[in-house]
Amino acid sequence: MGLSKTTFVFCFLAAAVLNAAVLCSGGITSSFVRKVESSVEMPLDSDVFKTPPGYNAPQQVHITQGDHKGKAVIVSWVTPDEPGSSIVQFWAENSNQKHQAKGRVKTYKYYNYTSGYIHHCTIRNLNYNTKYYYEVGTGKTTRTFWFTTPPEVGPDVPYTFGLIGDLGQTYDSNETLTHYEKNPVKGQAVLFVGDLSYADNHPNHDNVRWDTWARFVERSVAYQPWIWTTGNHELDYAPEIGEKKPFKPFTHRYQTPYKAANSTAPFWYSIKRASAHIIVLSSYSAYGKYTPQYQWLEEELPKVNRSETPWLFVLVHSPWYNSYDYHFMEGESMRVMYESWFVNYKVDLVFSGHVHAYERSERVSNIAYNIVNGDCTPVERDQSAPVYITIGDGGNIEGLATVMTEPQPKYSAYREASFGHATLEIKNRTHVYYSWHRNQDGYAVKAESMWFFNRYWHPVDDSTTAHS
Ligand SMILES: [Fe+2]
Repeated sequence: MGLSKTTFVFCFLAAAVLNAAVLCSGGITSSFVRKVESSVEMPLDSDVFKTPPGYNAPQQVHITQGDHKGKAVIVSWVTPDEPGSSIVQFWAENSNQKHQAKGRVKTYKYYNYTSGYIHHCTIRNLNYNTKYYYEVGTGKTTRTFWFTTPPEVGPDVPYTFGLIGDLGQTYDSNETLTHYEKNPVKGQAVLFVGDLSYADNHPNHDNVRWDTWARFVERSVAYQPWIWTTGNHELDYAPEIGEKKPFKPFTHRYQTPYKAANSTAPFWYSIKRASAHIIVLSSYSAYGKYTPQYQWLEEELPKVNRSETPWLFVLVHSPWYNSYDYHFMEGESMRVMYESWFVNYKVDLVFSGHVHAYERSERVSNIAYNIVNGDCTPVERDQSAPVYITIGDGGNIEGLATVMTEPQPKYSAYREASFGHATLEIKNRTHVYYSWHRNQDGYAVKAESMWFFNRYWHPVDDSTTAHS
């Protein structure tokens, strides 16, 4: 019975060596062969950009969460010819009682561009878990869409999020969105990690490309909320053409429920949805000590109630752990400011974009190290730390980031320069099933999948649950 002492010692040493190999390895750099040519933007006369028929027909319809806990929706749209009506009519499925909410309309100018009439209307006091139809427009040119409200916020409520970043409007962008729509795993809302239209890649930031992008994504975002994060391509800061107000097109076109989260600006805020508390941060707003964003986050984190919302996710455009040459260390100063908070409050997952590729980190932290105690290991495994996922692989005009730092750092678990999207299936308070889909595989194939365990309720090492 049992092992001899010698065998036991050998096994122990072998396990120790194996374990050390795992700990020291820099993870996986995928050998998947992907295309290297740059992405081509879809021309203006592409069918995905076409305008709906009829005089002054509402276009660019999109929705997002309208309050802190999922009982309100902000409906936005553009009328091209005249202001028309800012009223949204809505009714629950299986009910013939119509309600209406009145929004407001505005326009803006950007250099030599004048926008259409942009409407925003918040519809409130919706029932949870209910399908609603809604109608915008007037007279003969109304359009009807629908959405389903989330379940009531609670600790074991299943919910599925899609994850898309840096989308743009190229043929690859269209493939990414199609794959998300056709994915057998049905996302109920999208966590969008910034960089929407890439209009600023055109001369004078041609804002027509903001319009075309919104028409392109309408087929998804009119039917399920996309939760917006701002990226550098939302800045549209161009003093050389007299445009000195950062985020001008974005703030006119897209709304966030920041006031409900006691934020003072639309770029950093939080929502609760199903069993998740989601914090959105702004890489391109001030985040140093004493700034409004810093102060808000400092007050926000203690409010997260893991008994109500076990899952704590953060969206921020610029990644903190990135081993591509592209944008290397751009997120470093924000990491230095906030990483210890993320570890202390046991953030489960942090999603970023910006780098046009895919990367998943180990659970690591870099908070024990400082410039005084320089003998400490700079980055180490930390089971209280989040996994950092870079998913800036939507398919934009700038193409893929293909150059990686070598050798692969040990904080990097998996990296691959391919376009794609991800899904995040919350099962209960302890388990979430995560899958990343590369476009080239077809939408039914998951390039990598894994279980993540909740850091508050089940803080067990989940680094070995990945499989391809
Ligand atoms: Fe970016």
